[in-house]
Amino acid sequence: MALPKLQIALDTFDLPSALSPLQKAQAFIDIIEAGTILCLAEGMHAIRVLRSLYPEKPILADVRIAEAGSIISRMAFEAGASWVSVVSGATLTTVEAVMNQAANYGGEVQIELIDPWTYEQAQQWRAMGVPQVIAHRSRDAETKGQLSWSAQDLDHIRRLADMGFLVTVTGGVTLDDIPRFAGVPVGIFIAGRAIRDAADPAAAAAQFQETIQRTYAAALT
Ligand code: 5RP
Repeated sequence: MALPKLQIALDTFDLPSALSPLQKAQAFIDIIEAGTILCLAEGMHAIRVLRSLYPEKPILADVRIAEAGSIISRMAFEAGASWVSVVSGATLTTVEAVMNQAANYGGEVQIELIDPWTYEQAQQWRAMGVPQVIAHRSRDAETKGQLSWSAQDLDHIRRLADMGFLVTVTGGVTLDDIPRFAGVPVGIFIAGRAIRDAADPAAAAAQFQETIQRTYAAALT
């Protein structure tokens, strides 16, 4: 099992508010996410700026494509995104259109699992070559009181990883959540508010990296 990577989610209403914590934390960040909110607020300009400032880091454009997959993914890839997200409710035709653009630009596609999704769909995505899925505890579920990750969530992650997906875990992830995933093959943890809103974003990101290493140390030896 590989050590999970750390992704920062930048869901701010403007670019300067995203860049400030990112600049502080960047040494401890493996992947940068231009969050859905930032992409809506600032458009593909946000991706262009992130790409110019961080030419070496993978950038996810969390554009959550539901339709017009070819056009939206091309916009994101042209702006410098490495990966784009597609919602699980998108048709296979849309997923295929995004996969084609990803092949054109050397990018990758992540399917964001939003209930209801099925393993039959997951098999179809895999058969199409989709490499990544995002297991997402939604903000809306969080506000309704779903405060942690259930045993069923962890089983889904194991099963999706067994199918060959790189699985990202996101949605209000805090430092205290990480040990719950010990032995679970997570590819990437996303932290947004937990790093962005921290008094010291660099220290917060460093603590995430240390906690991930500690949690997975046993599985890696
Ligand atoms: C918002 C998102 C966020 O990118 C994701 O939830 C991570 O941010 P946070 O850790 O602040 O929840 O998808 O809809």
